[in-house]
Amino acid sequence: MKAPWYVDAVFYEVPVYAFFDTNGDGVGDFAGLTERLDYLEWLGVTCIWLLPFYESPLRDGGYDISDFRSVLPRYGTVDDVRTFLDESHRRGLRVIADVIVNHTSDQHPWFQEARLPGSPLRSRYVWSDTPDRFPDARVIFTDTHDSNWTWDPVAGAYYWHRFFDHQPDLNFDDPAVQDEIENIIRFWLTLGFDGLRLDAVPYLYERDNTNGENLPETHTYLKRLRAMVDTEFDDRMLLAEANQWPDDVVEYFGEGDEFHMAYHFPLMPRLFMALAQGDAGSVISILEDTPDIPDGCRWGIFLRNHDELTLEMVTGEERQYLWDRYAPEPSMRKNVGIRRRLAPLLDGDRRRIELLHALLLSLPGSPFLYYGDEIGMGDEHLLEDRDGVRTPMQWDSSPTAGFSTAVPQDLYLPVVSSPGYSPAAVNVAAQRDNPGSLLLWTRKMLDLRAGMSALGAGAFRLVPASDSAVFAFVRSDADATVLVVANFSDAPVTSDLDVDLAPTATLATAPGTSLEGTTITLDAHGWAWFRVEHPFTVIAARHGD
Ligand code: GLC
Ligand code: CA
Repeated sequence: MKAPWYVDAVFYEVPVYAFFDTNGDGVGDFAGLTERLDYLEWLGVTCIWLLPFYESPLRDGGYDISDFRSVLPRYGTVDDVRTFLDESHRRGLRVIADVIVNHTSDQHPWFQEARLPGSPLRSRYVWSDTPDRFPDARVIFTDTHDSNWTWDPVAGAYYWHRFFDHQPDLNFDDPAVQDEIENIIRFWLTLGFDGLRLDAVPYLYERDNTNGENLPETHTYLKRLRAMVDTEFDDRMLLAEANQWPDDVVEYFGEGDEFHMAYHFPLMPRLFMALAQGDAGSVISILEDTPDIPDGCRWGIFLRNHDELTLEMVTGEERQYLWDRYAPEPSMRKNVGIRRRLAPLLDGDRRRIELLHALLLSLPGSPFLYYGDEIGMGDEHLLEDRDGVRTPMQWDSSPTAGFSTAVPQDLYLPVVSSPGYSPAAVNVAAQRDNPGSLLLWTRKMLDLRAGMSALGAGAFRLVPASDSAVFAFVRSDADATVLVVANFSDAPVTSDLDVDLAPTATLATAPGTSLEGTTITLDAHGWAWFRVEHPFTVIAARHGD
């Protein structure tokens, strides 16, 4: 049976407002996204993930929705979304969107109505006379809040919120909420989205004497959504945002009857950890601790996204280590994480940027690229909240980066100005013309990956290496076997690989790589993808599984 489309998809995450502005108001729009589809097709990504584009007071980047079935007028209309979907599909590109199921904006009419005394909508939110209920639920936005309860003088009660206090949590014990959310999902899938990312799914229900995460009631409701999608739609995908440990995340796949995809949150900081330590250990152990997932399910893997580099899924000691290493200035830290983009995190070092991408594109899971990382865009960590990683896409070297015809002061956020990362230094136009650019390298790697199905749906097996800096694994399917090796250390390394193989071709490599028999030599931060003799059954026999 053919694997479902998301199994070998390459996702590209982009906020509508950040990509391209066609009407000169300083804000990206759907018409702009549609205009730039040629670029995404040329780059070689296969699915676009749109951040929230709904009506919103924009106090949380649009994750604070005030009307679930609308488009924020400055981004366009529902018709513009339809055109964008049609144009994407015509090019063979899929599109998924964010839907925020856990909470609304406090400006949503439901909340405005619910807070009124005696309102029939009161039960759509979670209220309490005291701020003491559910004391075991952690606070997520630690920089701005110390409680999940906020007093509402109009309601005369406290309301529950896992995120900002302007984002009251919906009460999923109310059948009307269950139905409304189901209908919203139906609405956007009917319009033509290929899938939806359901935001913040661990927190749907609250129960006394629990931490309010991953509760059985939450899974029951999510399975109901999945059943609806399976019954009413073809070939769609639901993706869980659940920032949890692997054992808890796999519950969101159910028995293949809940989500199709879920992000692998704990893997991401460990890639940065391994690079900082020059040791593959932390990556290997999290992969060993990752349970198998049901057929047809798939991890989503990523290096960076629109949020802080979250350090929730590491130990306290590891967190401090990563903060010290990657966020030396306090302004670079946000909540339990780091608000920086990929290139500045890695000191703009091409070798390390390429190493992490070579892994992102070959580890088991569908890769999610973050807009601008393909050109090594920088950030502005002094901007509010996480805005510093959401600045305008840099198309050319002009002061507005070719993003907009507005004057620079009218852009929704300033273009990156930090030295080495301004549009003059980092932009698509220059990199398209430069054969040695990160952009053309990324495109080449995506092209290679597209031609090598083992890197998509293929089975995964770790390969032991004698040197702890070296990370090695194979991916294999009916067509081919690929050996991937990477050196996390900043010194050259020679290591034995505990594997019985004969390489037949080097698919891609950093300079300075050689493989003689089973001895690999890699330069500092070197890596390689080899095609090896096939079929690759010897390994399974030798390692006893
Ligand atoms: C998700 C989003 C994040 C948002 C939060 C609250 O974690 O990724 O950007 O702030 O939900 O809505
Ligand atoms: Ca615009």
